[in-house]
Amino acid sequence: MLTATFAVLFYTATVVLVLGLAARVYLYARTPAPLRIPTTPAPTSRGGAALRVTSEVVAFRSLFRGEKLLWLLSWAFHVALLLVILRHLRYFLDPAPQWLVWIQPLGLYAAYVLAAALVGLWLRRLWIDRVRHISTPSDHAALALLLAIGLTGLGLQHFQPTDIVAVKAFFIGLMQFNWQPLPSEPLLLLHLTLVALLMMVFPFSKLLHAAGVFFSPTRNQPDNPRERRHIAPWARALEQDATHQKQE
Ligand code: HEM
Repeated sequence: MLTATFAVLFYTATVVLVLGLAARVYLYARTPAPLRIPTTPAPTSRGGAALRVTSEVVAFRSLFRGEKLLWLLSWAFHVALLLVILRHLRYFLDPAPQWLVWIQPLGLYAAYVLAAALVGLWLRRLWIDRVRHISTPSDHAALALLLAIGLTGLGLQHFQPTDIVAVKAFFIGLMQFNWQPLPSEPLLLLHLTLVALLMMVFPFSKLLHAAGVFFSPTRNQPDNPRERRHIAPWARALEQDATHQKQE
C-alpha cells in the first residue's frame, strides 16, 4: 500500500512538473517582446547577449551589482542545491558513473551550505524592514519547503538512516514500471512527500525563475536598434497595409 501510494504520488508529481514546465516555457516563448528594452550598458551582438545571460545564470551578475549579501546567500544556496541534486542522481542511475561517485562527499558538505543559506535568506526576509514589507506568504512558503526538504534529508543522513539501496531500487523500479518496496522510515516518507510537493508547485510558483531567466528581454536582447531595426509582427503588418494603400 505504502509503495503504491508513493509510486502514484511520484508519477503524478512528474507529470505535473513536466507538463506544467512545458506549458510555462511555451507561454514565455510566445510572449511578444515588441520593443528593444535591454538594460544598458548592454552587449551589441547576439553572442554578447548570450554571454550576458550565461553570466546571469552562472554568477548571478546583476544581483552581485545590486546587493552583495543577497547575492552571496542566493549564489551559495544555488551552487549547494546543484551539488545536492547531482549527489541524488545515485538514486536514478545504475551503475553510478565514476564522476558521481567522486562528487558524493561534495554533495554532503553542500547539504549544510544549502540549509545555512536558506536560514540566512529567511532571516534577511524577516529582519530587514523593507524586504519584510514586500514579502508575501508564498515567499515564506518557498523557503520553508526547501528548508524542510534539506533538514529532513540531513535528518536521514544523521538520525534516522534508511536503506538507500532499497530507495534506489524503488526509484529505478518506478522508471521501469516494475515497482519495488519503499522503506518506511517516517523521515524518508516526509522527505519524499515534500519533494513531490516541490515538484508539483514548481511550475506555478516563483521558483519558476529558473526557466524564466532565459526569457528576460532586458537581459537577452542585444543593444542594436540602430544597426537592426526591431519591428514587432503587428507593427510590420500595419506598415505593409499602409504601403499597399498608398500603391492602390
Ligand atoms: C525523488 C527525489 C529524492 C529522493 C529519492 C531523496 C532521497 C534522499 C535520501 C534517501 C537521503 C538520505 C541519504 C543518506 O542517508 O545517505 C537524502 C538526503 C538529502 N536530501 Fe534528498 N531526496 C530527493 C530529493 C531531494 C531534493 C529535491 C532535495 C533538495 C531540495 C534534497 C535534499 C536532501 C539533502 C540536503 C539531504 C542530506 C544530504 C545527503 O545525504 O545528500 N533531496 N535524500
